[in-house]
Amino acid sequence: MSIRYNADSNTFILETRNTSYLMKVSRYGNLLHLYYGERIPDENLDYLIKVQDRGFSPNPNEAGNDRTFSLDYLAQEYSTDGKGDYRVPSMEVMNGDGSQIFSGKVDGFKIYKGKYTIKEMPSLHATARDRVDTLEVRLKDQESGAVAVLCYSVFEGKNIITRSTRFVNEGTCAMRLLKIMSATVDYKDSDYDMVYFSGRHTMEREFNRIPVRSGVHAIGSTRGTSSHQQNPFLILCEKGAGEDHGRCYGYSLIYSGNFIMETERDQFGQVRVNGGINPKGFNFLVSPGETFTAPEMVLAFSSHGFTGLTHLYHDIYRENLSRSPYIKKARPVLINSWEAAYFDFDEEKILNIAREAVGMGVDLFVLDDGWFGKRDDDNSGLGDWKVNRKKLKNGISGLSEEIHKLGLQFGIWIEPEMVSEDSDLYRKHPDWCLKVPGRPMSRGRNQLVLDLSRRDVCDYLVQVVNDLLSDARIEYVKWDMNRSISDVWSGLLPADRQGETSHRYILGLYYVMDEIILKHPEIIFCGCSGGGGRYDGAMLYYQPQIWCSDNTDAKARLKIQYGTSFAYPVCTLESHVSVCPNHQTGRVTPIETRGMVAMDGVLGYELDSTRLSQEEKAVCRDQIRFYKKHYKLIAEGDYYRLSSPYENPYFTAWQHVSKDKKKSLVSLVLTDKESNDAQRYVKLKGLDRNAMYKIEGQKERYSGAVLMYAGIPVPTELKEYEGVQFCLKMV
Ligand code: GLA
Repeated sequence: MSIRYNADSNTFILETRNTSYLMKVSRYGNLLHLYYGERIPDENLDYLIKVQDRGFSPNPNEAGNDRTFSLDYLAQEYSTDGKGDYRVPSMEVMNGDGSQIFSGKVDGFKIYKGKYTIKEMPSLHATARDRVDTLEVRLKDQESGAVAVLCYSVFEGKNIITRSTRFVNEGTCAMRLLKIMSATVDYKDSDYDMVYFSGRHTMEREFNRIPVRSGVHAIGSTRGTSSHQQNPFLILCEKGAGEDHGRCYGYSLIYSGNFIMETERDQFGQVRVNGGINPKGFNFLVSPGETFTAPEMVLAFSSHGFTGLTHLYHDIYRENLSRSPYIKKARPVLINSWEAAYFDFDEEKILNIAREAVGMGVDLFVLDDGWFGKRDDDNSGLGDWKVNRKKLKNGISGLSEEIHKLGLQFGIWIEPEMVSEDSDLYRKHPDWCLKVPGRPMSRGRNQLVLDLSRRDVCDYLVQVVNDLLSDARIEYVKWDMNRSISDVWSGLLPADRQGETSHRYILGLYYVMDEIILKHPEIIFCGCSGGGGRYDGAMLYYQPQIWCSDNTDAKARLKIQYGTSFAYPVCTLESHVSVCPNHQTGRVTPIETRGMVAMDGVLGYELDSTRLSQEEKAVCRDQIRFYKKHYKLIAEGDYYRLSSPYENPYFTAWQHVSKDKKKSLVSLVLTDKESNDAQRYVKLKGLDRNAMYKIEGQKERYSGAVLMYAGIPVPTELKEYEGVQFCLKMV
């Protein structure tokens, strides 16, 4: 078993191949955190717990006159609240008597083989090859009957520990859950930096690194989605840690709604990390006998810097997260109509674009927004998922057949969670959207959000979308969500339960996705929320790929894809070649560079193929051929960031290396060009230092060692925004 309880030291020991995680039941029954990091053989770490009489640190009653035992500074596994720990708590619960105290003491545990399950939300699963064991520890507040069941599944070979918390009301009065973290980790020391990924629409997941200073620093979302603005992924790392070295801890939350990741450095320089559902606006009534489950947090530790952490997440998210069989299959290269036609098309125009794309080597045509209801711009039509025959005279099935006759697969765009006021659906069911009666509502992109916390609304969507999917041959669906949620209020919940709406919306969304996406394993679903506004593990459970950003500019994408790559595998990141001047930035970059950047993901095109020159089409054809040849390496290999677009203004480079180190693909884009400039070198990574490699198309042989330690000269003839891409083979 990778999990043990040492009864002599009252210590739980969780072990993956390279890491250990230890916690201990204190003499008063509190669960204290001892250690998380490199694997260690020790089973008793009592010597690490240093106590002293500290002023203004209360002592719990059970400690009697012992003034050295205080929850104010002890590292806890899941904190108490209202009992003398003043740091950001793991849980806040209002008991039946109105008190806000949770004093959870260990009240039993179980260790079993296999992974715990979460019924209502996505979580990782164990494959037949994985050795996974689970520990569940019950922390019970004897006075109120509130129980927090801490669940830990240890993916031994993958060096991953997942956590979730189940709240059970074992008392006699209803309780209000005001905050519930999926995981807390208390560090006994202080010298950490935090790395997180913030952004905005069309500029997602920018890299931030800041020192953990005294006080609380929280990132999160209250927008109803995981958001463009912050991603539910956090790294806590040692001060000196970098790409290839240093100790790093990853926190990745499998949740698509309001989340929070809090980092607090306390008065004694200790650090607490919390992660889970954002408590802002959250208030969940849990009646006696009822349970509330927090989403899953995926924890990883690497002593090999960010790259080590990235590999752990990429491996587990490729194998143990997605329920789509496509996660393991080569994805078709698509062409999408959005930047080619926006809302302005008819069947003929669409077929012309598709026809030209065939010659480029494209496999799949995706009809984006504008095909349904009254939808000539983004002010109307959402909710009416019936084809607009004025634009598509033969309907979706007719168009799909024509597209298939060209030898292409067919895909379609939908935005099921939304409704336009100018739509038949809204006219029929004005009460189906989130809004507070008697209060004017806010619009986003001139649209309203359907109330997915209601089962009747969810069931309606399941029916409508499933009908759409069975009416025509559809191999791909882009599932969009184009606004931040506001005016949160549900018509079916009583006033004192409105604080449940946002979470219930997400549960409703997962229910709808279960009933649509999981029922259609033959269809590729692509996640989207104005690009990458909902790029999280829960969406990847349903959708093997996500449209990474509405920004298709190759230079901007270097940063966006760099940030995305820290947690999320390349094979989940959809990226398109579009035209220049770029529609978002006006920048002009060579089509070769656009292809190179787009194939650092799931390659696609988003342009009017009828307007490309013969030369451009030939370039696209070559790109697709090259991409398909190296797909396995790109999708399944180890990913290395060779330079940071934030630190290196001159070039951005990245590398895919096959697991056996025999093949590698190196890509580099020159981001700034100066005259008579310095000769620069790019140092490769991940190769076998003792092996010899050949660059495809060249005769010379180089050792893995020299390629990694001396590097390769960046060609001086490259102009700004030009790039190079080459393959290495072990010889
Ligand atoms: C969002 C998506 C785009 C496109 C438009 C259509 O912004 O991210 O790719 O589908 O919606 O309205």
